[in-house]
Amino acid sequence: MPMMINGREAPVPGDARVSLLDLLREHLELYGTKKGCNQGACGACTVLVDGERVLSCLALAVQYEGREVTTIEGLASGGGLHPLQQAFIDDDGFQCGYCTPGQICSAVGMVDELRRGVPSYVTDDLAATNVAFSHDEVRERMSGNLCRCGAYNGIVEAITDVYAEQQA
Ligand code: FES
Ligand code: FES
Repeated sequence: MPMMINGREAPVPGDARVSLLDLLREHLELYGTKKGCNQGACGACTVLVDGERVLSCLALAVQYEGREVTTIEGLASGGGLHPLQQAFIDDDGFQCGYCTPGQICSAVGMVDELRRGVPSYVTDDLAATNVAFSHDEVRERMSGNLCRCGAYNGIVEAITDVYAEQQA
């Protein structure tokens, strides 16, 4: 069974050693997803699988047969930017941009975790059915996405501009 990548069918590689990240970049020429550390430490390779954020450098592509993968190229729709992409521009959420696709995919997955009530280290009510959006939740939940340029204030601002009201 193929996997779906940004709404299109893609064959699962025959070589079981190919990571999801290398499938995207080297087999499918989807260069938006970045290779930083290639060992699960930086978040630059974050993509969404069935809406959940995944570090694609740590994932073997064959595991994702039949699953729906969304990369930064798949977030924009109708020729326009995703609202979070626009907010990163408006709020200076990047400098070199290398971490940005991973930051944006991660933030989309993170907001969905809040809606589903997935607790984090800073969540007080572990039984809540959804977790309130807050500065501390964003900082904690985005801590796996490093930015060597230190654009963290703009990143948090962009995420807050797009999602704070929706989550209130
Ligand atoms: S490249 Fe995957 S976490 Fe750094
Ligand atoms: S914008 Fe350069 S690493 Fe984040």
